[in-house]
Amino acid sequence: MKEQKTPAILTPVRTKEDIQFEDSLRPRTFDEFVGQETIKANLHIFIEAAKKRSEQLDHVLLYGPPGLGKTSLAYLIAKEMGVAMKPTAGPVIERTGDLSAILTNLQKKEVLFIDEIHRLHPSVEELLYSAMEDFSLDLIIGQGPSARSHKLQLRKFTLIGATTRAGRITAPLRGRFGIIHRLDYYRDEDLNRIIRRSAKLLGVAIDDGGAEHIARRSRGTPRVANRLLRRVRDYADVKADGVITAKEAEKALDMMEVDSLGLDEVDRKILLTIIENYGGGPVGITTIAAAIDEEKDTIESIYEPFLMRIGFLERTLRGRKLTPRAYEHLGLPAPSPSPNSQKKLFKE
Ligand SMILES: Nc1ncnc2c1ncn2[C@@H]1O[C@H](COP(=O)(O)OP(=O)(O)OP(=O)(O)O)[C@@H](O)[C@H]1O
Ligand SMILES: [Mg+2]
Repeated sequence: MKEQKTPAILTPVRTKEDIQFEDSLRPRTFDEFVGQETIKANLHIFIEAAKKRSEQLDHVLLYGPPGLGKTSLAYLIAKEMGVAMKPTAGPVIERTGDLSAILTNLQKKEVLFIDEIHRLHPSVEELLYSAMEDFSLDLIIGQGPSARSHKLQLRKFTLIGATTRAGRITAPLRGRFGIIHRLDYYRDEDLNRIIRRSAKLLGVAIDDGGAEHIARRSRGTPRVANRLLRRVRDYADVKADGVITAKEAEKALDMMEVDSLGLDEVDRKILLTIIENYGGGPVGITTIAAAIDEEKDTIESIYEPFLMRIGFLERTLRGRKLTPRAYEHLGLPAPSPSPNSQKKLFKE
């Protein structure tokens, strides 16, 4: 069967164009940060408590698929604490000396944000342990026999780590975070609110139906919702009188071949591979990864959660299995139940 090519517009991962827009669309207050109510309620209490005690907030680990608001939330936490945030990323901190410099420059209660924290160099990560635990740095000064260990006291800071690959965080690092939250996909009504807010900021006229339609195809991801909004705006500017209605949104998204549920190319590849090569499953995740040439933990942390959330994929003891809904969406006939399961049904 021919593989349908879906546009990169649906990839949840940040593109160059997103970088240009995302800063202007980031929520500026907790109220503007739509959805994730449980996480917000918890954070609110922890932040208030820390402020009441005039202490730094406990270290926070935020994880979940790309584009769900981890970086945005980190900025909001720092803002709510009334402190500055120093952003960096795991792969950027190459040597222990780089981390020492960052840590010694932090002021009391300030936030250090480490994105992609699963990609820290092991020696850098090790240095972070004592910094997180008792705000001290064990530095080795000098070399060879004259080398001495020196303990340096740091000002009490908050580390916020973010990752899309929670499975890659080592146990000792994970254990040092007092607050751990997993961000989940957004409901359509939350995406709807995000879209309408972004439309206002971008000066785009959109009605409820238009926002609803875009929300439905945004794969539960605010980043994708904002991106689709920008593309539909282009369409509405050229083809209509600039107002995005349900009809315009539908026409525009269909023209761009945006899947009606927001499946991107990798999602489709996973589904079609399971169907074509493994009879719909069950099949192990390692086998799927090898077959489509993607990393196993990219599939496990980015694609599988979405396909499970929309009820296309099931986890069984023997591996991943497609559901009849997945076949239906792809317009393919679902395999009939195996003789064994029919026998069972008959008996019951
Ligand atoms: N809860 C939210 N309310 C409103 N807008 C949001 C929300 N979450 C995310 N966004 C929008 O989506 C964009 C992407 O969010 P963000 O960069 O925080 O995601 P992320 O989880 O850090 O992604 P990545 O894993 O790729 O780093 C933001 O610029 C913001 O405009
Ligand atoms: Mg981020």
